[in-house]
Amino acid sequence: MTEKVAVIGLGYVGLTLACALASRCFQVTGLDVDEEKLEKIRRGTPPIYEEGLEPLLNHVLKLGALKVTSDYQEAVRESEACFICVGTPSNPDGSVDLRYVEETARMLGKALKDKPGYYLVVVRSTVPPGTTRNLVRRILEEESGRSIGDFGLCFNPEFLREGKALEDTFNPDRIVIGCVDRESGEKLLVIYRKFYGDKLPPTLITTLVNAELIKYVSNAFLATKISFINMVSQLCQALPGADVKVVAEGMGMDKRIGREFLAAGLGWGGSCFPKDALGLLRFGEELGVQLPIVEAAIKVNESQIEHTVKLAEELIGDLGGKLVAVLGLAFKPGTDDIRESRSIRLVEKLLERGARVRVHDPKAIENARKVLGERVSYAGSIEECMRGAELCILATEWPQYRRINAETLKRLMKTPALLDGRRLYKPEEFREIKFKAIGLGDSNQEP
Ligand code: UDX
Ligand code: UDX
Repeated sequence: MTEKVAVIGLGYVGLTLACALASRCFQVTGLDVDEEKLEKIRRGTPPIYEEGLEPLLNHVLKLGALKVTSDYQEAVRESEACFICVGTPSNPDGSVDLRYVEETARMLGKALKDKPGYYLVVVRSTVPPGTTRNLVRRILEEESGRSIGDFGLCFNPEFLREGKALEDTFNPDRIVIGCVDRESGEKLLVIYRKFYGDKLPPTLITTLVNAELIKYVSNAFLATKISFINMVSQLCQALPGADVKVVAEGMGMDKRIGREFLAAGLGWGGSCFPKDALGLLRFGEELGVQLPIVEAAIKVNESQIEHTVKLAEELIGDLGGKLVAVLGLAFKPGTDDIRESRSIRLVEKLLERGARVRVHDPKAIENARKVLGERVSYAGSIEECMRGAELCILATEWPQYRRINAETLKRLMKTPALLDGRRLYKPEEFREIKFKAIGLGDSNQEP
């Protein structure tokens, strides 16, 4: 039974998987090309913030179940299967940059040359349909001089939400396994049976291309669901008395629609939805297929930022020279990740309009500084962020921002005004001050 595995690429996806496997009797070798990252991991400090990851990492290091290296020969020698979790960023035109996957396949192929016995390669990085068969398989065969049968190949997407990555790894809704041949799929299933015991999640075994497509369209569908409710929120804004939160609640009571991913707000960001929605569009174009729903979802997502700035101007007039406090920079709560964060996008727009911006985030300041530099000021506390500001915008719904109330705003701000970009607050509690929420409808008018 396969017990020794390697995980290549120790980012959000890879490090979580490596720690999870190591905590359940697997001997794991983690590989990354970034030596600084490896050093941190060896010391028990995850290079990223993810709920619960630090204690788990320390636990598995103590057990001796996780080792890390930058040497492919070593990683392959020490394992019977590997999971490829390297990044697949966007090219400037939105298509997917596969150079890290290519490089990984090349290095793995070389290492496989001297590896006796069967070895299973599992691609977990999100890649356009066809990549595992046409690119990864070809490179592995060329570099190793061996062929399918000597080694196995699967595409096995991850569906992790950042901030809940461990929870999603230990309790996923489903496992999707795309495999080049039956043996590859069965070998991966053995790993998951060992990991989940008698609680194996519902599992779909299919072709490589179906599995690759399932990953893309799942993300595009969820992004579309959010854009749909954001579109409705713009309708609500123009309809006195309408409230998108109640509308979403009513819609979600229908089991066929479901309540999840119907939270209106600034829109979707992160390392997956924006990249995968665009990647899918470009992929469709290459095949000569238009994907107008995905296109519209992206358009609505972009429009939410301009919409928010308009609401800000409605609240306090021209933004030129005004001090705006922005709460939350991470693309969602529970992470320090700012990739494609709507909040950062909003800050950029506020700066363009001449506003002075002060920002706060419980975890993401360090990452935000790399992008925003000295163009904004950074607050160490919520109070410091709001002091003297003329408008406060809630951009990421960290739970600690819930405790803000009208009294705090009146006490600290120059002119108390709050724009709720994530529907965190109850409007009735802010009656005495200027208040607006995205998608609230015409907040101060009766129908
Ligand atoms: C990434 C992809 O972006 C996503 O599409 C996919 O589904 C899973 O992998 P994430 O874990 O968030 O998601 O990426 P990132 O945090 O950028 O981590 C990638 C890691 O791979 C980095 O630590 C990087 O140093 C490492 N890497 C990159 C390698 O080890 N080798 C390489 O050649 C390139
Ligand atoms: C997503 C997918 O959920 C996951 O399955 C996939 O593997 C990777 O991409 P992630 O990006 O970590 O995960 O976070 P998610 O919770 O899906 O949120 C993505 C974005 O949508 C965030 O910016 C969030 O603020 C936004 N969002 C989410 C909404 O605006 N409204 C919602 O109702 C839900």
